[in-house]
Amino acid sequence: MFRTKIIGTGHYLPENKITNHDLAKMVDTNHEWIVERTGIHARRNANDNQSTTDLALIAATNALEMAQLDAKDLDMIVFCSITPDYIMPSSACILQEKLGASNCVSFDLVAACSGFIYGLATADMYIKTGVKKNILVIGAEVLHNFVDYTDRGTCILFGDAAGAAVVTRNEDESDNAEIYSHHMYSDGSLNKLLYVPSGGSQNPATKESFENKEHFVKMNGREIFKHAVRAMSKCSSEAIETNNMSLEDISWVVPHQANTRIIEATAKHLGISMDKVIVEIEEMGNTSAATIPVALDIAVRDQRIQRGQNVLLTAFGAGLTSGSLLFNF
Ligand code: UT7
Repeated sequence: MFRTKIIGTGHYLPENKITNHDLAKMVDTNHEWIVERTGIHARRNANDNQSTTDLALIAATNALEMAQLDAKDLDMIVFCSITPDYIMPSSACILQEKLGASNCVSFDLVAACSGFIYGLATADMYIKTGVKKNILVIGAEVLHNFVDYTDRGTCILFGDAAGAAVVTRNEDESDNAEIYSHHMYSDGSLNKLLYVPSGGSQNPATKESFENKEHFVKMNGREIFKHAVRAMSKCSSEAIETNNMSLEDISWVVPHQANTRIIEATAKHLGISMDKVIVEIEEMGNTSAATIPVALDIAVRDQRIQRGQNVLLTAFGAGLTSGSLLFNF
């Protein structure tokens, strides 16, 4: 068995900001309500000519630069997204071409907001078992095309972004960097709490489905909120216990950035101080699979997260999916 370490992170946020004041002109809402209930001030929208893989390309390039690897050194790309460029081929294959990563296998992974943790866990298993060596994991979304700007319960939350991490086999015995554990869960019985009703094989796109706005995200916010806090607390505690650690051993928690109140309630449940929690939701909103790698990269680049520290990732999303991943950076 080999050890896996994160050697590069990167992110990209589109420049175009949609503020709460902008949304207040479209739906019956206001800046104060959105800030109090979500912590969000603005979210980003990709330009019309920017697809999910365009955002991912910038994040990936930044991560590869930090990792000091060339795209040709990659032997796998795991692309986590619910907003692919096309139904087929996979966004991973499109990104592979854009990056010039000609020596790797590439595939998409769909786990909604938990996607990046699922992706990093998958990469870890391939590296641990010696099958692959250098893997790029992407969490990227262009969500704004799937948001109903007449639904105040969802349009206030979602935005576009991309984040990336490069992981590799750690062969240096003096280097403690390692992905220690991952725990992943799903509960398909609750899949209708957060979904896009049409556009797939169950309900193919029709004139009526467009008119009925069935291609937009539908969410039972209150129910999702409750499940999110429960699930993220549970799998975070499990990560800490599995590794025989205590809360003191954790330097940072990087949670899925869905709503500041969900993050605060999860931290309270866990008994961890908010001083140890990376919160970057204010200027980007909920970007699904991208929130964790974006927040992680911001905290690595501003040097809050330092080499040698233990970092806990935790997420929750449609499916319902959830997961945690604990690593030494
Ligand atoms: O990424 C993973 C998936 N997503 C999430 O994790 C999101 C989870 N859910 C949430 O973040 C929250 O449920 C929301 C932010 C979506 C909503 O906040 P809430 O505190 O749960 O509000 P609520 O749905 O319980 O609604 C409270 C009131 C309602 O009015 P009445 O019925 O009490 O008169 C809503 O109609 O607030 C109203 N409301 C709004 N008012 C102003 C709902 N949305 C808005 C809005 N502006 N944008």
